[in-house]
Amino acid sequence: MNPIHAPFPLSRSRRLRRTPWMRDLVRETALGVSDLIWPIFIREGEGIREPVASLPGVDRLSIDNAAIAAEEAATLGIPVIALFPYTDPAKKTPDAAEAWNMENLVNRATRAIKAKVPDIGIMLDVALDPYNSDGHDGIVRDGIILNDETLMALEKQTLAQAESGADILGPSDMMDGRIGIMRQALESHDFADVAIMSYSAKYASAFYGPFRDAVGANGALKGDKKTYQMDFGNTDEALREVAKDLSEGADMVMVKPGMPYLDVCQRVKSEFGVPTFAYQVSGEYAMICAAGQNGWIDQDAAMLESLGAFKRAGCDGILTYFANRTARILLNEDL
Ligand code: PBG
Repeated sequence: MNPIHAPFPLSRSRRLRRTPWMRDLVRETALGVSDLIWPIFIREGEGIREPVASLPGVDRLSIDNAAIAAEEAATLGIPVIALFPYTDPAKKTPDAAEAWNMENLVNRATRAIKAKVPDIGIMLDVALDPYNSDGHDGIVRDGIILNDETLMALEKQTLAQAESGADILGPSDMMDGRIGIMRQALESHDFADVAIMSYSAKYASAFYGPFRDAVGANGALKGDKKTYQMDFGNTDEALREVAKDLSEGADMVMVKPGMPYLDVCQRVKSEFGVPTFAYQVSGEYAMICAAGQNGWIDQDAAMLESLGAFKRAGCDGILTYFANRTARILLNEDL
């Protein structure tokens, strides 16, 4: 930081805040459409758009409608969509085998979208929770979430998703050793170009509630995820997790949740200088919408400010349910 500045009144900070064009000129960081990743929930059926009560404005889409959303995203210039399945409870089992079924929802959706909208990136979550009758991200035996058994399942899920055409895989399970297993599997099966955006610093958080409603995992979940997701008091540990994931072959890293963890985003970016993303999770989205709907805050202004804060903290991009609305506002479209 340059310590030299003239004393008042030679220096007046307000000179550079006087007009919109001057503020634009000197703004240090800016949010662009290409910073956005749009999470989309998929369900079975056709022509379906089913609202998620705890996520106002977010719908579960059948695959045909998801392809239309993908087209919309590509037209807006959103580079990537992330697909999450609402899995029929009858398909959830203790071994979570639906996770590597080539005909499961996200794999079918990926192929359908790739065929229709070849120019958009598709990201898929690697984790067992949408498919596991216990609602956990790993295989559970006698109430224990098993690490190494889970890795074998994640490897199969990885290959099925890569085979279906996913461009980016996002391991969100927080098992130890997952990135190395995934990277080796991808390399040895001709999927060397598939990128891994690791949910490296993923905290056990109360802010995931609406997401678990959206994917139907809430009812299934027994207990909490504190034996694998991180404790919210820790940041050195986040750096160790990022270091491990990078050394195992992650291409990009993520911090999750987002806004309550901007300090972690900033540390990760400044220590490693790798592509760093934040997930503005469902609870963060829901809070902004709820306050907006009550007239307690200006929803769009709060949305843009929250996303701008991620850029200021050093993030290269943000996964956000606000992606499509934000893109339209940034592009000055009529809403
Ligand atoms: C599952 C997963 C979760 C989210 C993304 N992937 C939930 C969880 O870990 O329980 C949360 C996203 C959100 O809240 O928006 N592995």
